[in-house]
Amino acid sequence: MIHTGRHFLQIPGPTNVPDRVLRAIDNPTIDHRGPEFAALGVEALEGLKEVFQTKHPVIIYPASGTGAWEAALVNTLSPGDRVVMYETGHFASLWHRMAGRLGLDVDLIPGDWRHGADPAAIEERLTQDRAHAIKAVCVVHNETSTGAVTRVAEVRRALDRTAHPALLMVDTISSLASIDYRMDEWGVDVTVGGSQKGLMLPPGLSFNAVSDKALSASKSARLPRSYWNWEEMLASNKAGFFPYTPATNLLYGLREALRMLQEEGLENVFARHARLAEATRCAVRAWGLDILCAEPLEYSNSLTAVLLPQGLDADRVREIALERFDLSLGTGLGKMQRKVFRIGHLGHFNELMLAGTLCGVEMALALAGVPMRKGGVQAALDFLAAPAAHASAKVERMPRPHLAGT
Ligand SMILES: Cc1ncc(COP(=O)(O)O)c(C=O)c1O
Repeated sequence: MIHTGRHFLQIPGPTNVPDRVLRAIDNPTIDHRGPEFAALGVEALEGLKEVFQTKHPVIIYPASGTGAWEAALVNTLSPGDRVVMYETGHFASLWHRMAGRLGLDVDLIPGDWRHGADPAAIEERLTQDRAHAIKAVCVVHNETSTGAVTRVAEVRRALDRTAHPALLMVDTISSLASIDYRMDEWGVDVTVGGSQKGLMLPPGLSFNAVSDKALSASKSARLPRSYWNWEEMLASNKAGFFPYTPATNLLYGLREALRMLQEEGLENVFARHARLAEATRCAVRAWGLDILCAEPLEYSNSLTAVLLPQGLDADRVREIALERFDLSLGTGLGKMQRKVFRIGHLGHFNELMLAGTLCGVEMALALAGVPMRKGGVQAALDFLAAPAAHASAKVERMPRPHLAGT
């Protein structure tokens, strides 16, 4: 079928790229060793710190998120080091597989793919480890395959209560600039991030934000590393440069996206995501379907995974949504294949985009013959138009440049 109008890209990343960011990327590539680039590098590197809520350096790799996972491990750990990970879902499982391949001794705490990491289970592992063999605890803040959030501040408290010196590493690939994440306040040592979700950029950049403790661990870490080496990056970054050819045009986009986030204000960005996520959950409940995340305290504001009744194929709903309505929804991953579809509601996104998305989902569910009640869209609209949702609506902070003078 030939579609007209805008495609609805409502997978939980890559997300819709704002026109402002596309225009910024669409500029001539410049000399990455010249003064114009240095200014770009400094603005991007400094601006990122605010988004991670850290005063520590953020490293930018021309890589997908998987590269930043590897960078976090190889810069801080040595062969055979003990690492605790938590099986929140598909992405935690992939990070675990990578750690094993790199020669780390990984203790994976099993999970049911319906919750965030359990701080009490992590605390138990730390308490048992009197010899401090565990060198790092790694968790995924927002598990993109399930839509469940890990309470990172509580994981930090588990480390503090046991006075355990392990590093805390957190994957924020699908939470950064969408769900409140406070690297310094929560005492995180390495934060892993990516460009293609809350940051509203195309795929291709990923990040490591690095605490002093992680930096000092990197001095004695013995896993082989070259391309990912923090030391050379940090040395060049001081003047806004990179040790190898950076992704210049993506950095133009990053600078623009950071300006947009700054104009909106991070707290407004988080409130917007919370509002749109809750509206989505109102729709799912009204349809009479299950939200995969079983703990309301851990609901994700980036995405909602919708669990279909047993025996129904969630990919059929996705196929119909795409064929009939030009709407892309996220597929079930790993153990959740065909059991769930995922609605992405993060990044450059607003009320009416959500309304359109939910209309597409409701029609696709009906066409796929999924037993459900109508009225999910209406429930979401009622929530969005209620005074309480208005109260959390965005506070205008700065004039929008494209409206200036009108
Ligand atoms: C939470 C999380 N971690 C890691 C990754 C892997 O990132 P990438 O696919 O960019 O390599 C993803 C990708 O979606 C993710 O959602």
